[in-house]
Amino acid sequence: MDTEKKSALALFGGTPVLTEPLPVVHNAGKEELVAVERVITRGPLSGFTGTPGERFKGGPEVRRFETLFAEKFGVQHAVAFNSATTALHAAIVALEIGPGDEVIVPPYSMAASATCVLMNGAVPIFADIDERTFCISPASIRARITKYTKAIVVVNLFGQGADLDEILAIAKEHDLKVIEDNAQSPGATYKGKLLGTIGDIGVFSFNVHKVVQSGEGGVLVTNNDRYAHRAQLSRNHGESVADALPDYHDGPIFGSNYRMTEIEAAIAYEQTLKLDFLNEKKIALCDHLTKKLTALAIDGITLPYIPPENTHVYYQYVMKIDPEQLGCTRDKFAEAMGAEGFPLSPGYVKPIYLQRLFQERKAFNETHFPFEYDGYDGKPNYDKGLCPVVERMFERELTSTMLCQYPRTIEHIDLFVEAIKKVVAHVDELKD
Ligand SMILES: Cc1ncc(COP(=O)(O)O)c(C=O)c1O
Repeated sequence: MDTEKKSALALFGGTPVLTEPLPVVHNAGKEELVAVERVITRGPLSGFTGTPGERFKGGPEVRRFETLFAEKFGVQHAVAFNSATTALHAAIVALEIGPGDEVIVPPYSMAASATCVLMNGAVPIFADIDERTFCISPASIRARITKYTKAIVVVNLFGQGADLDEILAIAKEHDLKVIEDNAQSPGATYKGKLLGTIGDIGVFSFNVHKVVQSGEGGVLVTNNDRYAHRAQLSRNHGESVADALPDYHDGPIFGSNYRMTEIEAAIAYEQTLKLDFLNEKKIALCDHLTKKLTALAIDGITLPYIPPENTHVYYQYVMKIDPEQLGCTRDKFAEAMGAEGFPLSPGYVKPIYLQRLFQERKAFNETHFPFEYDGYDGKPNYDKGLCPVVERMFERELTSTMLCQYPRTIEHIDLFVEAIKKVVAHVDELKD
């Protein structure tokens, strides 16, 4: 009876493969505690004031973090923010993109990759993705360019880069700027170059889901002095200080409060020092998983594809399901895995253009600005069917896990593989 219970799917009352809870992922420790204590002992908790002068660019911890980050990523400027979302908006401000402009973005990402464009009154235009890397497709970008296009937001999704050479070539041909949303891929490379440093501006996130984190936080990097300066103005009430700044020779600017606190910066500094260690741990676990699953060669499960020019840091470990070959739907497979103790995300996120905001074209109360107004006669399309690859991934094929993170171990990965074997062995019971 016991053996029977053990071998039955947990979904139908059997014993789950995972019997002990997984270790919690929380990689802030001693070093971060010491750093926070230093800030609290010394004060103040934020070094910013929205006035001209020394404190316009933040306190000592913010500057120290920015210096470390710029050195580590080999860029001229790192500008700290209170999130990647606000850093993305500042990137749009820095590039002077606004009403009447279009920006090409991928629909398969966290919403901010697209809404940063709207935040400055410009229009996001969605391009489809490559079905092997899940990053924005150069061919689809080409098809979306209009006379209004000003920039491309490239999201390096799930831990690896898009086809950046091809995208930069398109950008050059059409005089477009490139923002790399690198929230998910810090430390990964494309042709030996660190992602986030390849486009005109790169953005990183330090939120609680990321490999390195400060609770909330973000950073913008660039080699362009003017973009960095505009980003700093956007971060800290630029309208109030611009005229009084000796090095400001730009047009009007409208800023906000996107400032990072001293405590967040002190934590972000220590976490940045841990980035390589944490990435190495992740990669080792994911490589082990790939090796094991490759040996099983399960019909209907496609493992991550890494183009030869990329290294991957596995923000998520992504698998594609072919329901016909596997013998059950992706959602049933994910449900059965969840019951075994290993939750899988079915589909990642809904394509952004299918959100109500875009379907109703209402970003600012009941108006249709900036989608429809006198200053713009573009025809943005947000219809279902617009990006067939993304829709297929969301509805039927893609599934992912964030299991592979320190301090989880090879033994946890082996249990995950056991759970997959068990579910696959019982796949007939999962048919609709
Ligand atoms: C690709 C991508 N861009 C932007 C963000 C926004 O990051 P934050 O939460 O730091 O604003 C995220 C966060 O999940 C993300 O994954």
